[in-house]
Amino acid sequence: MSRITCPELKKTVSADEAARHIDNGHRVAMSGFTGSGYPKVVPGAVAARARAAHDRGDDFGIELWTGASTAPELDGVLAEADAVSKRLPFQSDPAMRSSINSGATEYVDTHLSHSAQQAWFGFYGNLDVAVVEVAAILPNGLLVPGSSVGNSKTWLDLADKVILEVNSWHPRAYEGFHDVYYGTRRPPERLPIQLLEPMQRIGDPYLRVDPAKVVAVVETNAPDRNLPFKPADEDSKAIAAHLVDFLRHEIAADRLPPELLPLQSGVGNVANAVMGNLADSEFTGLTAYTEVIQDGMLDLIDDGKLTSVSATAFSLSAERAADFNENIESYKGRILLRTQEMSNHPEAIRRLGVIAINGMVEADIYGNVNSTHVMGSSIINGIGGSGDFARNAYLNFFVSNSLAKSGAISSIVPFASHIDHTEHDTQILVTEQGLADLRGLSPVARARKSIAECAHPSYRDRLSDYLERAIAANPAGRHTPHLLGEALAWHGNFQVGGRM
Ligand code: COA
Repeated sequence: MSRITCPELKKTVSADEAARHIDNGHRVAMSGFTGSGYPKVVPGAVAARARAAHDRGDDFGIELWTGASTAPELDGVLAEADAVSKRLPFQSDPAMRSSINSGATEYVDTHLSHSAQQAWFGFYGNLDVAVVEVAAILPNGLLVPGSSVGNSKTWLDLADKVILEVNSWHPRAYEGFHDVYYGTRRPPERLPIQLLEPMQRIGDPYLRVDPAKVVAVVETNAPDRNLPFKPADEDSKAIAAHLVDFLRHEIAADRLPPELLPLQSGVGNVANAVMGNLADSEFTGLTAYTEVIQDGMLDLIDDGKLTSVSATAFSLSAERAADFNENIESYKGRILLRTQEMSNHPEAIRRLGVIAINGMVEADIYGNVNSTHVMGSSIINGIGGSGDFARNAYLNFFVSNSLAKSGAISSIVPFASHIDHTEHDTQILVTEQGLADLRGLSPVARARKSIAECAHPSYRDRLSDYLERAIAANPAGRHTPHLLGEALAWHGNFQVGGRM
């Protein structure tokens, strides 16, 4: 049966025809959050237009906005065709990353809760075209989203023209899995977000679109594409064990209830493995208020440990996605997908008391965390939702192996080469070596603890030596003592081409 049952929206065309609405210089917003719910064919057709224009010697570059990262069929094809002049708010695609790091694409790396509101505040300029993937168009013109909601609501509201991709790979049974909040207002008319528990509905199950703005509808049947995760290794198991021990300690100290508080787990192999390993713990009756549902979180639901999850998107491996699609009915009522404004809303995160667990590249001894850059210059992915959660969480953890690149790099350093989360936000660092609870500590006490608990033994003495010399050299600056030249040179000496 057709997924397009609204007579007014029977505007089916090919991807190539739809892409003709997208021109050089346009601001184009697409759905998608991780490799989920992104348009599968129109981006490729836009890339073909860009290549043809370049072959003729003409310019072709669009500003590309999405929910978050996408997949090779979107970020990849457009970056390879040199078709993106500016990108926001998040990416994790190898081709797009190269285009950004080479300077060909400008990247505005934005907190994910900010991107929609900054667009509707008008901070990014007029939006020309939205390309949004959905699972179905209902007879009354309402849209059933698929595996992500992300910023689709805002893109449909703001764009001059709308292209819809209707993807029948998404189960039709997605209807009822979503909660799209339509109460957004600009300050000073903004209203409180009345969200008092993770699964509370505050919006509609559907996306709305003005049919008059829809210029094309393209039908597809194509899978989402997320990168597979690395299997949990001994290090990630050790990180999870430290974290679980700490949670037990917090329950014993009456700072957490036995069923904990809503969990948030960030993107990446380590955060995914930590979630998977929580399944082996004694905790039950857990809830999650998070951004993405990775394999590890679905494992927790299947094991009966996690009763419900509020998020904005799935981010599942191919096998897990196929399994979910087959058994989608059994998850109804236990999973709710919201707009990313709401999944990452500071007000909701703070009220619910979320426990946030996010990956990091490195932390400095004082607790400043780098989530985004290698050597202070090259972007890996972006800040994503880590800042939304870390700043507002009840408890926040930053997790990483203590070593990267086969031991050539320590993830605990004297001075972070780039700072996404300041020492004022960071509460708890965890590596396979141990857990440093930095809450309520002054800078030098934090430094001693981070080095002792989290640094790898092969770097511990050097880091302690650095700290003690910095203290001795700064008799009038012992609050956060540094030897700045040496702290920055650390990255050059130790991290380029291995050890000193
Ligand atoms: N220096 C240089 N490279 C480093 C590094 C360091 N200190 N630490 C990690 N890396 C590299 C790894 O070597 C790996 O590269 P490779 O694939 O070429 O080997 C890559 O970064 C990923 O590292 P990995 O150890 O597999 O960790 P991860 O998959 O858990 O990802 C982040 C870690 C920080 C990249 C990831 O968590 C991230 O993008 N965070 C920012 C966004 C975010 O937190 N979103 C969550 C909100 S819901």
